[in-house]
Amino acid sequence: MSAAFQTFKLKDVTLRNRIAVPPMCQYSAKDGFTNEWHWAHYAGLARGGAGLVVVEATGVSADGRITPGCTGLWKDEQIEGMARITAAIKAAGSVPGIQIGHAGRKASANLPWEGDDHIADGDPRGWETISPSAIPFGGGLSKTPREMTIADIERVKTDFVAAAKRALQAGFEWLELHFAHGYLAQSFFSVHANKRTDAYGGDAAGRSRFIIETFEAVRKVWPENLPLTARFGVIEFDGRDEETLSEAITLTKTLRDGGLDLMNVSMGFSTMDAKVPWGPSFLVPTTGRVRKEAGMPVASAWCVDAPQDIEKAVATGQMDIVMVGRAMLADPHYPYQVAIALGEERPAWTLPAPYAHWLSRYRGAGKGAAQ
Ligand SMILES: Cc1cc2nc3c(=O)[nH]c(=O)nc-3n(C[C@H](O)[C@H](O)[C@H](O)COP(=O)(O)O)c2cc1C
Repeated sequence: MSAAFQTFKLKDVTLRNRIAVPPMCQYSAKDGFTNEWHWAHYAGLARGGAGLVVVEATGVSADGRITPGCTGLWKDEQIEGMARITAAIKAAGSVPGIQIGHAGRKASANLPWEGDDHIADGDPRGWETISPSAIPFGGGLSKTPREMTIADIERVKTDFVAAAKRALQAGFEWLELHFAHGYLAQSFFSVHANKRTDAYGGDAAGRSRFIIETFEAVRKVWPENLPLTARFGVIEFDGRDEETLSEAITLTKTLRDGGLDLMNVSMGFSTMDAKVPWGPSFLVPTTGRVRKEAGMPVASAWCVDAPQDIEKAVATGQMDIVMVGRAMLADPHYPYQVAIALGEERPAWTLPAPYAHWLSRYRGAGKGAAQ
């Protein structure tokens, strides 16, 4: 059997294979509430055979959403819609995960297909943004955030805890804290976004403090038997990469010692000046390094979607889980296609039984079923 189709056990949760759906915003919620689109979308992805489906970046507060269309878990009424989604994911044999986060200085943005830039000042759809320092990201995201007070920091940590509790109530079995992609937590860690002179800025220890404290607060309320994970940008591709990576690995070890179960290794996206070397599997060596040096399970995404690349990332010990995003949007049954490509003996068995039974002998339209 290929490495990609071996099960993966973390705490009390077992994934049926190593292919996971990473969080992908749908920008289709209203006031943070999910609707039938979210249900159909996530149910479809789970049905397609992925071992884990992580629901999109979900705001821990209304001001923590990236756009007005982002999902939220800042009030109890939002639990019900999420519970329908977790039930559908489980019914399809997958594990329901969710990413919770605060978008920081990248919040209050227009939907990607409506500009992907900040909502103009004075537009009632927008809101005040916060960040460790009053420095805008740049480009279309040019709104200047308000520098957070200590009270703001405490409030956001409390919001993370409350959202984590709601995620558990909704039936999620895998929690991912969004510490990546230039949003609030990543901004605290970033030398580009954090110019604070208090305990939450300065050296790597200061810039790591918000992430550690937020993690510790959530750790206290998230059950020990379920995976608690984070997505974190360990590299910016800004020319300071060795230093950032070394600081990030130190922080990862601290989180590991505090009870982090898996790190979803990603990029910082904290500066407009990043020169990301896009290409197949370009982040895999970095991911493998974090896995080895931090000594803990890792997942990652970013252009690891060709079947042989997925297999290689797992078989060579560089990733425990491969997150496949856009290929899953193109074909929710992508894990089945990967299984065929890797020569799995029973590729259809990546799918739920009602499909697996029939597809196990079906060779494709026009080719005649062996039934
Ligand atoms: C439509 C879309 C929405 C995304 N939303 C999120 C998100 O909510 N949280 C996150 O951490 N990454 C998000 N990402 C990044 C994906 O999780 C993933 O890292 C990216 O698609 C690269 O993987 P791929 O090459 O397999 O597509 C999003 C990507 C896409 C395409």
